[in-house]
Amino acid sequence: MLPTRADFPEGFVFGAATSSYQIEGHGFGGAGRTHWDDFAATKGNVIQAQNGQIACDHYHRMDEDLDLLAQLNVDAYRFSTSWARVLPEGRGAPNKEGLDFYDRLVDGLLARDIKPAVTLYHWELPSALADLGGWRNRDIAGWFGDFTETIMRVIGDRAWSVAPINEPWCVGWLSHYVGAHAPGLRDIRATARAMHHILLAHGTSIERMRGMGIGNLGAVCNLEWAAPADASEAAHAAAARYDAIYNRFFLGGMFKGTYPDLVLEGLEPHLPRNWQDDFPTITAPVDWCGLNYYTRTLVDAAGDEPWPHYSQSSGDLPKTSMGWEIYPQGLTDFLVRTQAEYTGDLPLYVTENGMALHDPIEDGVVDDTARQDFYRDHLEAVRTAIALGVPVKGYFLWSLMDNYEWAFGYEPRFGVVHVDFETLQRTPKASYHALSAAFRK
Ligand code: FCB
Repeated sequence: MLPTRADFPEGFVFGAATSSYQIEGHGFGGAGRTHWDDFAATKGNVIQAQNGQIACDHYHRMDEDLDLLAQLNVDAYRFSTSWARVLPEGRGAPNKEGLDFYDRLVDGLLARDIKPAVTLYHWELPSALADLGGWRNRDIAGWFGDFTETIMRVIGDRAWSVAPINEPWCVGWLSHYVGAHAPGLRDIRATARAMHHILLAHGTSIERMRGMGIGNLGAVCNLEWAAPADASEAAHAAAARYDAIYNRFFLGGMFKGTYPDLVLEGLEPHLPRNWQDDFPTITAPVDWCGLNYYTRTLVDAAGDEPWPHYSQSSGDLPKTSMGWEIYPQGLTDFLVRTQAEYTGDLPLYVTENGMALHDPIEDGVVDDTARQDFYRDHLEAVRTAIALGVPVKGYFLWSLMDNYEWAFGYEPRFGVVHVDFETLQRTPKASYHALSAAFRK
């Protein structure tokens, strides 16, 4: 059985999350081209070269989707604002239709008594800015600050919370070193600069919003538990390096004003000149911290691999259809560790957590028992952290509906609502009904 609202402290926020490029349909409403359109157009990068031009057509089906949220009994909705929809060229003239869309979205949420939890950037960089070097260009901090002000002038008065950038590790490392996300680079200098500029842009955005009098500002990091593949010293050292790059670099920058030595070992020669001078902006105080959590990985030393000299594998735990091991303990451990080492008394939120399943639809029913078990076990992991004294204030499931799962296209289904990508029909899955009952007020 899923734990219910009554099992959590008074005022605990239950929510659901999505992101703009993954659901809206970037072909509609005057949105500009994004680097994900370019990345997907490069054959071999994305399953079947699929992109987000139509996605879930949320752009035209917003009201229906907001009704689904309301019936899920959530308190908050975490969505993102597309930079390219608001500013098709990344800078300059805003797209009035885009601003109106987010204005209506926020009003539609408030009309249903749902808190708007805004993420400003969930990966759809305007192509015009990618042409100028994107995250490699230091000027992006100012461009992002300007975008922040443009969108916040319209919805900042009604936003419940705002986080500038979703998952800095994906924006930086995964996109510039692994090359698995747009812009698909494999370049250490690009990586070092992108990782640093992401944090500079984060801090700049926070400062601009403070200047506008907007409150309840946070940061959202994705964390992946790194376990040594065996008991050897080499595997432990490799796991520590993985952990430093993935989990400690961004939290360390924002909350301590330092980068871990295990990361500097590789990146320092490639960081921009006088990078330390940016920490006063990077550490601009926030009001909360969000953790996105999905899985753990087993890490081993791999001397033949380029720096950071590790390899990854998965263990024997049950897996999602992404092949990700299901490891709820990691969520408790990250909440405990984040409080102890980085955030202290600051409220923590689980800003994403969920699983992909194959989810066939039979006679209008999707019987996703495994997803209900996943949510049960991870909600229990949150309860454990709360019992240990960690100030966890809310939990957002990923995702409200099946959507564009980046390089994996439309195949992985993370939603609690099924989407038929031919007809765009929405069908709540069994997990939706169970969660709706658990979240009942
Ligand atoms: C996270 C992303 C989100 C989605 C989930 C499965 O890393 O923030 O957009 O892709 O993973």
